[in-house]
Order: sequence, then structure tokens, then C-alpha cells
Amino acid sequence: MTEHRIYNFNAGPAALPLPVLEEIQASFLNFKGSGMSLVEVSHRSKWFDDVINDAVVRIKRLLKLDDNFEVLFLQGGASSQFFMIPMNLLPEGRSADYVNTGTWSTKAIKEVELQGKSADVVASSKDRDFCYIPKNVVFNSDAAYVHITTNNTIKGTQWAQMPDTGGVPLVADMSSDILSRPFDPAPFGLFYAGAQKNMGAAGVCVVVIRKDMLERVPENLPSMVKYTTFAAKNSLYNTPPCFAIYTVQLVSKWLEEEIGGIEKMAEINRQKADLLYGFMDSGDFYRGTADADSRSFMNVTFRLPSEDLEKQFIQEALENGFGGLKGHRSVGGCRASIYNPMPLKAVADLVDFMKTFEKKNG
Ligand SMILES: Cc1ncc(COP(=O)(O)O)c(C=O)c1O
Repeated sequence: MTEHRIYNFNAGPAALPLPVLEEIQASFLNFKGSGMSLVEVSHRSKWFDDVINDAVVRIKRLLKLDDNFEVLFLQGGASSQFFMIPMNLLPEGRSADYVNTGTWSTKAIKEVELQGKSADVVASSKDRDFCYIPKNVVFNSDAAYVHITTNNTIKGTQWAQMPDTGGVPLVADMSSDILSRPFDPAPFGLFYAGAQKNMGAAGVCVVVIRKDMLERVPENLPSMVKYTTFAAKNSLYNTPPCFAIYTVQLVSKWLEEEIGGIEKMAEINRQKADLLYGFMDSGDFYRGTADADSRSFMNVTFRLPSEDLEKQFIQEALENGFGGLKGHRSVGGCRASIYNPMPLKAVADLVDFMKTFEKKNG
């Protein structure tokens, strides 16, 4: 079956490491001698306890999180964090700083405003259609937190470094670059990621929260939207998305045991991005859409000389085993998502295909 698999450049749900898929397949009918599949065992069983506990331990080790941080597995996608964050962490009468770098930040800001709370948009790249990350942003020292989107999946931009917020807790949507590069977790009050891009299968959002932030959670929120509910119960307050958490465990194991950790992963990610951007910059047929200093190492967005050529490129790429190269429906163009599981060889093969396509059509 594996010989029919294509290179999957989708933005999410996205490619998973082949060894992870193989382990799921091999253990599916009889998980760890239980006589049941993982999706049939109780979430209160020893089998599932081992899965969720191992996932937490590995994520903490990979991200170098000390005991000040809790790792939570929540449902409702990264999109639910857009409203849960202000509900839990933004007290009445205070304001939070937001940097608007595209569709996902815009949605996050809207959810604050829907609650009648104040989001101060301290910087935005809307003036140039979100093709860059704002620089030298000045934050309010009395902000309840500062929210950023570390990687902008649609526009293909990424914060090269996390901003200095001068002690105000940083809150970040890392849906499309978590576990792709090392960073210092200390300034973060919370960060979160829908698992379906870089961490596993759709259905779970990983939320990492610093324990002191839990003190802000108002008592009178519904239980299912309070971080404290899940922190008190190891994410097992109600039935969790067991299968998705299992995939996060396996991807974390793959990252530790087969790749050798986040530093090694970041080096491979740099090589992949350098290869693709380097090739695009060597001519003018493929045109990157993000400013060079704001380019994403995860989502490489580009245009061809015409929309007809883009359509033809995406179609012929698929026929040659390269799937998912269509840009997001809101922006058009092309996008190659080269998350952690995408091997360097796949990017090298894509560049070869792009060269051939250009020779024929350039
Ligand atoms: C950066 C970012 N944030 C949030 C989301 C929304 O995630 P979800 O579909 O898990 O709600 C996405 C989805 O593509 C994303 O790329």
C-alpha cells in the first residue's frame, strides 16, 4: 500500500510520519494486548492512562517545560481558544494586546470583542495584505497578556523571534509551527496548537498553560470552558478525543526517538525551507508572496506568472505525486506546507518537478 502514497503538502490535516501511521495500523485491532483497539478502550483504563501520560511527558521534554506548566488536551480546535483565552485570562476592566498578522489573528481579536472585552491591536500587517511580521512592536505594560500567531498558515509568514513583551505574559497560537523549532517557554503564559498540522490527527488542541495563569480563571464560567477544570483532572474531566491524543503521543515519540529532538528537527526544517526558497529566488517564474525576513519555514506561499499556469501546475504536480499545493481558498496561488513530517527528499523532489515545469512553461 505504501507505494501508492503521495507527497502530501496539505496545510492541515497534514502529512504524518510514516512510522507513526504504521504503528497505528499494526496496533489497531489489539492495542497493547487489550484485545480492543485504542478507540474502544475506556479513557479511564490503564491503557489510555499510559497514552496520555506519555504524551504529556514527551511534550514537556521536547519543549523543555518545567513543572510551572500544565499540558492540556482540549476539544473545539484552536478556534475555541480564541474565545477561551479572553474568558479565562482577561479580567473585566483590563485590556489585552493583540498583533494582527492575518486571518487567524483577526478571528482571535473578533472573539475578544464579541465578549464586550477590549483587544488593543498594537500592530498589524493588514496594510500590505499580511505579507510581513510587524517589527519593533511596543506593547502596553499593563496589558493582561499579549497575543500573537507565531506562524501564519495562510499568508506564509512566521515570527523569526518571539517578541519581547517586557514581562507581560505572552499568549500564542502555534497551530502551524509548534514543535518545529526551539524557543524559551519562560515568557509564555499560554500557547496552543490544533494538533492536525504538526502534532497529530485532527480532534485535539494542545494547550500549554503556566500555572500562575490558572489563578485568573473566574469561578463562574461553565465547567467545559475553564482551564482549571481540565488542569485538575489531567484533561480527563469528560471523555477526551482518545485517538487524536494517541497520535500526538506517537508523533512526539517519533520526534524524540527517530529525529532526535526539536533542535535536530529545526535544522532539517531550515534545510527544507532554504532549498525551496533558494530555488524560488534563483529565478522569477515562482514568486514568494511573503517578505524575505518574514517567511515561514512551514508554509511556503508562492505565485506563478498567471492563474492559468497555477491551475496547471497544481494539476500536473498532483499527477506526479505532489498533493495539496493549492493556496488557501481565501488567497489563491500555491502553498507547499512542509511541516515536521515532510522529508527533505520530498522537498528536493518537488524542486526538481518545479524546475521541469518551468522549463516547459516558462
Ligand atoms: C494558525 C492557525 N490558527 C488556528 C487555526 C484553526 O484551527 P482549528 O481548525 O483547529 O480550529 C488554524 C487552522 O488552519 C491555523 O492555521
